[in-house]
Amino acid sequence: MTGSNGSTAVSDQPALPKPEGLEGVVAASTALSHVFGEEGKLVYRGFDIHELAGKASFEEVAYLLWMGQLPTRGELADLLQRLGEQRPLPTQVIDVIRDLPATAAPMDALRTGVSALGASDAGQFDDVPDLDEAISLTAKFPGILAAFFRLRQGLEPVSPRSEHNTAQSYLYQLFGREPEEKHWRPSEVYLTLLADHGMNASTFTARVIASTGSDLCSAITGAVGALKGPLHGGAPSKVLDMLEDIGSAENVDRWLTEALDRGDRLMGFGHRVYKAEDPRAEILRGMAAEASTPDFFELSRRTEERALAMLQERKPDRRLYTNVEFYSAAVLSAVGLPGDMFTPTFAVSRVAGWTAHVLEQMSNNRLIRPQSEFVGPMDKKFVAIEQR
Ligand code: ACO
Repeated sequence: MTGSNGSTAVSDQPALPKPEGLEGVVAASTALSHVFGEEGKLVYRGFDIHELAGKASFEEVAYLLWMGQLPTRGELADLLQRLGEQRPLPTQVIDVIRDLPATAAPMDALRTGVSALGASDAGQFDDVPDLDEAISLTAKFPGILAAFFRLRQGLEPVSPRSEHNTAQSYLYQLFGREPEEKHWRPSEVYLTLLADHGMNASTFTARVIASTGSDLCSAITGAVGALKGPLHGGAPSKVLDMLEDIGSAENVDRWLTEALDRGDRLMGFGHRVYKAEDPRAEILRGMAAEASTPDFFELSRRTEERALAMLQERKPDRRLYTNVEFYSAAVLSAVGLPGDMFTPTFAVSRVAGWTAHVLEQMSNNRLIRPQSEFVGPMDKKFVAIEQR
């Protein structure tokens, strides 16, 4: 029997206590990034995100995460060259993506593509994860997604150009034309903002898999699967759906009231760690004001304002604020991406953080293997099926 939450109900199971979801548990030490939830502050390797956003390129941020310091001019040029060289996908991977139905979710295509990369006979991901593999995988993420994006429209994938940076290359491979600066610049800021975020669910997944001694593609395939969920990275397309469904400012109150009365969660609000506004939401709000149409920005602003007021009224003891996903929707749609490419674009950025975490895990590894509290019955005796 399947319950309303999708779980299988078995009548004599003991009632389980409300899960803590590991809230507040310190699962690992990391020098990569940290979310200061009370203050609404995000730090990468000692740099406040406000210090980097709009100033550092995505590649500088990736280097910072992997290497622990900002690159010199020569180091950055070297990284850009290596990323450019590593972008082309093995034909086997493109063939696997080609075989997917056009109706597949892009996150499923990405997860399949990363897994296929690990199995391809390029043999590049066979060893203990290292920086070369991290660079190669980060370089290939945009191409995997772009290949699927084009193939599902009946278009052939385009070959990447080595002189592009990551943001330019992603848009170029998606749309098959030189990206305009007004599109790749906000994309790049978005990529720098999403590159890492403490011990979130997908990062934890990657570290758990890496800790078993598995390979980088396995760890990152698992992370992509974790990011897909709407309680983690899967919310921004739902934010767009919500805003499109609301349609105009006069519908905001009625729509939100009905959703909350049904017990729905409002996508783009709330966070496990932030008990103040997510600093990325603040930066993205400013970007959305410039990048999206005045009407869409006005609708987003009104919806945010009313949602925050209603959440405060209905859940006064919870501190629910706007999270990164809310204005991601406005920024990414202004760049020309359809809703189902929002979470995959998050992954194009976060692969830098995931791979940095895998490298950090492997530099000081111990198998991650927690315990569970056993709440089931004991001492039952087997009864043969004929007597049951
Ligand atoms: N809308 C309505 N109510 C909410 C929301 C929301 N967006 N978020 C939390 N609440 C309520 C819950 O119903 C719960 O209320 P209750 O205790 O009265 O039942 C309370 O606030 C606490 O919720 P939890 O689920 O325990 O909080 P948790 O830390 O697990 O949730 C999460 C964090 C999953 C992000 C949640 O806020 C949520 O579902 N938000 C909507 C989805 C979303 O925006 N996801 C993107 C997250 S950002 C990221 O990962 C990149």
